Amino acid sequence: MHSYDKLLLMNKAWAKEMVDDDPDYFNRLAHLQTPEFLWIGCSDSRVPANEITGTQPGEIFVHRNIANMVVNTDLNLLSVLDYAVNHLKVRHIIVCGHYGCGGVKAAMTKHDFGIINKWLRNIKDVYRFHRTEIDAIEDEEKRADRLTELNVQEQVMNLAKTAIIQRAWQYEKRPHIHGWVYGLKDGLIKPVFEMEPQTHIDPLYEFDDL
Ligand code: CO
Repeated sequence: MHSYDKLLLMNKAWAKEMVDDDPDYFNRLAHLQTPEFLWIGCSDSRVPANEITGTQPGEIFVHRNIANMVVNTDLNLLSVLDYAVNHLKVRHIIVCGHYGCGGVKAAMTKHDFGIINKWLRNIKDVYRFHRTEIDAIEDEEKRADRLTELNVQEQVMNLAKTAIIQRAWQYEKRPHIHGWVYGLKDGLIKPVFEMEPQTHIDPLYEFDDL
C-alpha cells in the first residue's frame, strides 16, 4: 500500500463515521457555507486551523501561506479576503503565526533561498521596522519568537491598510481582526494583537472616499 492510499482509506472511514453520526451531515454542509471566521495561517503542517481550534468543517474559511503573510500584491490572499469579507460576511479575521516558524527563522539568516527570497523579504522588512527591539534580545530563539509576534502584528495592520477592510469597517462595523501565535511545544494559542472595527490607522494608509 502506498502512503497516499492510506489517506484515501482514512477518508472513507471518516465519511462513514460522519454519516453514521448524522445522516444529513454532508447534505447540510454541501448547501450552506456560513463561516464566522477567516483564518490566515502558516502552511506549516503542524498548525492545522480546524484541529487546534476544535472547529468543524464549515466553521472557518482558511488561507495559508509561508509565515502567514498579508502581502498587498498577493492576488491569492486578496481574493480570499474579498470573498470572505464581502460574500461570506465573516465577523472575525484571525492571523495566526506560530513559534518555531521556519519562514521567520529563514528570514533571519543571510542564506540565499532562491525564489523564496522574494517572499522572505516581507519578513525582513518587519525585522527592520522593529530592529531596535529585536536586536536587544540576547537569546536567539527568543529573538525569533518576538519577530514571530511582531510579524503577526504587522500582518494584522496590513489587513487594515486594504480598502476591503476599511470599507467593511466603515459600512458594516466588522470584521474584528485578531493576531495570534500558536505554540508548537504546548499546543496553546497566545493572542498578541487585535484591531477592532474602525480602529484608527496611520492616515498615510487611510482612504477617505470609500
Ligand atoms: Co511557519
